[in-house]
Amino acid sequence: MTDGMRGLRWALGLVAAGVLTAPAVAVAEASFDRGNKIFRLDGGDVTYAFKINGSGILQSVYWGKRLPDRAPLAAPELSGLSGFDVITNVVPQEYAGQGGGLYAEPALKVTYPDGNRDVVLYYRTQEVSGDTIRVTLSDLDRPLFVTLTYTIDRATGVIARSAVIENRGATDVRIDQAAAAGYTLPVAYDYRLHYSTGRWAAEWTLQDRALTAGSTVLESRRGSTGSQNNPWFTITRATTTEEDGPAWIGALAWSGSWRLTFDQDVTGRIRIVGGYNPFDFAYRLRPGATLSTPTFYVGFSDHGRGGASRIFHRFERERILPRRDGRVPLRKVLYNSWEATEFDVNEAGQIALAERAATLGVERFVMDDGWFGARNNDRAGLGDWIVNPAKFPRGLAPLISRVKSLGMDFGLWVEPEMINEDSDLFRAHPDWAMQFKSRPRTQGRNQLVLNLARTDVRDYVLKVLDDLLTTNDIAFLKWDYNRNWSEPGWPDADIADQQTIYVAYVRNLYWIIDELRKRHPRVEIESCSGGGGRVDLGIMARTDQMWPSDNTDPLDRLSIQDGFTQAYAPGTMMAWVTDSPNWVNQRQTLLSFRFLSAMQGGLGIGTNLNKWQNTDFLVARRYVAAYKRIRETVQRGDLYRINRANEADQRWTNLYVSGDRRQAALFTLIGSTHKLDVMPTIALRGLDPDAHYRIESMDGAALPLTMPASASGAYWMNHGVDVTLVGDFQGVGFILTRTR
Ligand code: DGJ
Repeated sequence: MTDGMRGLRWALGLVAAGVLTAPAVAVAEASFDRGNKIFRLDGGDVTYAFKINGSGILQSVYWGKRLPDRAPLAAPELSGLSGFDVITNVVPQEYAGQGGGLYAEPALKVTYPDGNRDVVLYYRTQEVSGDTIRVTLSDLDRPLFVTLTYTIDRATGVIARSAVIENRGATDVRIDQAAAAGYTLPVAYDYRLHYSTGRWAAEWTLQDRALTAGSTVLESRRGSTGSQNNPWFTITRATTTEEDGPAWIGALAWSGSWRLTFDQDVTGRIRIVGGYNPFDFAYRLRPGATLSTPTFYVGFSDHGRGGASRIFHRFERERILPRRDGRVPLRKVLYNSWEATEFDVNEAGQIALAERAATLGVERFVMDDGWFGARNNDRAGLGDWIVNPAKFPRGLAPLISRVKSLGMDFGLWVEPEMINEDSDLFRAHPDWAMQFKSRPRTQGRNQLVLNLARTDVRDYVLKVLDDLLTTNDIAFLKWDYNRNWSEPGWPDADIADQQTIYVAYVRNLYWIIDELRKRHPRVEIESCSGGGGRVDLGIMARTDQMWPSDNTDPLDRLSIQDGFTQAYAPGTMMAWVTDSPNWVNQRQTLLSFRFLSAMQGGLGIGTNLNKWQNTDFLVARRYVAAYKRIRETVQRGDLYRINRANEADQRWTNLYVSGDRRQAALFTLIGSTHKLDVMPTIALRGLDPDAHYRIESMDGAALPLTMPASASGAYWMNHGVDVTLVGDFQGVGFILTRTR
C-alpha cells in the first residue's frame, strides 16, 4: 500500500467512524488528476490543495472557499510559455528552489563549496498524521532535503506552513535564502494588497494598492519585526468589501528580519513567498545539520477583510496566545507610570500613584523605566538590572507590598536586550554589544543592542530576569526594545557563521522567554518595542499582550488600533488613557473620549493622577466599571469595523459581539463633524436576529429620544442606531445586552 492510500484509508476511516463529517485532512490519490497525487486540507470554510505534477514537482492547486468533499481538484499540467519563460517559471511551485532557470522569487537559494548554485526540488516522501501533512523534497542529485509541514486548523481553516532544510551530504552548504512557504492565487487582474507601514509613534498606517504585474516587497532588515512594515497582509479582489467577498490573509511568525514578496508571474498568477529576509543573510549548514524556517500562517474568508480579521483573531486566541488554566486570561485594567513620571520614579511617588489608581478599579500597577542602575535619563543604566538604592532604599518590596495591599498586582518595565555604554555591564563586557571589530558602533537612543546570539549573553539575560522574578512578587513584565540593529557583527564566531546572528539572536530571545515562563508560569509579559515595533505571531506565542504605539493620542490611536486589529486580536492590544493635551500633538480631548478610544483593547491608564480633579476620578471610575462589564466581549468577541474614518466622514465605528451573541459593545467616535452633514445610521452586525437586546449608554447617560430601550437583533441590524455627534473629538459607547 502506498503512503497516499494509507492516508486516504485513515481519513475515510474517521469519516466512517463518524468522527468527522468530512475529513479535516485528506490525502486523495490519483483519480481526480490523471494519475498525479493530490494533497488536500480542509478546515473551517477553507480548502487548500496541491499536487505532485507529472515531473515530480509540488504544484499549487487551490486555496480558497471550502469545496465539496469529492470536488474534482484537477490542475493543468503546464508547459513553458516560450524560450524566455521556461516551465520553471510557469508552474506555481509550493516551494521553489533557485534553479532550473527560475526567475520568479525562490523559496530556497543555496551555494555549494564547488560553486554549484542550482537547486531543483522533487517530491520524495509524505507522512500524514492528525491535521498535518509532511512532504519531503530533495534536490535532483545533491543530498539536500527539504521537509515541508502543512497543518490546518479545523475551526478556522488557518494553515500553518514551515520548512526544514537538511544537509545530508558530506560538505558544508551555504543557505542564502530560506522561505517558510510559497502560496499562489489564481490568475486575476484586480487583486488589492492591504498592509501596514509606519515608524515610531506612527505605526499601523494602512495601505491599499493594486497587485498587478511587478513585484511588491514588504520586509524588515532591522534584526527585529520593525514598524516600517508589519509581517502581515490581506489580499482582496477589487470588489471585496469590509464584510463581503474573498480575502486571503497571511502573517509570519518571526521576530527577526523577515520578507514577504508578492509577484504577478508571467501567467498572471499571484505568488507569495515569505520567510527569513535574504538581506545580509547567510547560514552555513554543516553536514547533518538542519535549518528550520519560521511559520507562515494564512487564512481565507469570503466575508471580506472583516471576516479575514475575525478568523485570525480567533485563531490567535485558540492556537497562538499563551494559556493559563486552559484559557487565554483576560487583560487586567492596568496603570502605567511612564507618562506621569518618566525616569523620575521613587518609592513614595509610586505609592502615591498606586493609591490613586486603586480607587479607580485598576487591577495591575506597572512601574515603568527608571527604577534600576544609574537610570536617571536614557543615557545610562541599561544592562544593570539592580534596584537603584537612592530611589528605592528598601528595595522593591515595600512598593510591591503596598500595591498588593491595595488589591492590585505589580508589574515592572525591563529592556533586557539592550546596554548603555554608561553601565557597569558595558564596562565589564564591552564585547557583549553587537558590533564589528574596530568599527564605530552606531547608537540609537544612546544604547547598543546586546548580542543575544552569544550563549554567555543569553544566559546572563535569563539569570538577571529570573533573579528579579524570584526575589520579587512580580506578576507582569513590560518587555521593551527601543532601537533596531546596526553593525550586526559577531566577531567571536567563525566567519562562515557570523551571519547566522539573524537566526540565533531571535531563537535565543524566544528561548529566554520560554524558559522564564516555564520557571515563572504565572508571570504575564507585554511585547513592546518603543511602541508597535515587535508585534508578530512569533512573539505573540510567548507574550500575553502587545503595545501598539507610544502614540497615545486618542484620535491617532483609532487609526493605529484599526491597523493593528486587521491581523491581531483586540484582546492583545493595550490602549492607555493619558493626559490632555497629548504629548504627541498637543491635541486636547475630553476624558470620556480618551476612555472610549482606549476601551477598544486592553484598557490601561497612564495619566498623572496627581493632577486629576475629583470629577476626573468620577468619570474614570464610571468608565472603568463599564469596561469591566464589556471586556470579555471586546477581548474575546468578534470585531465588526462598521465605519473607518476618511476625509469626508470622520467617524470611527466599531462593534464587538460576544461569541455567544449575548452582549455587544458599540463605539462611535468622530474627529470632527463635517459641515451640517447628518450622521448615517449605524446598522449593527453579528447579533441574533430573533433575540431581544436592551441598549444603554456606557456612561449611564439617557438614550437619544428616538432610540428604543430594547428591540430585536433584527431591528438593531436593519433599522440600526442613530447617533448625533457634534463638534470635535466626540464619542459615545453603547452596551447591548440580550434579554430574551
Ligand atoms: C518606550 C515604551 O514604548 C514606553 O511606553 C516607555 O516604556 C519607554 N520606552 C520607557 O523608556
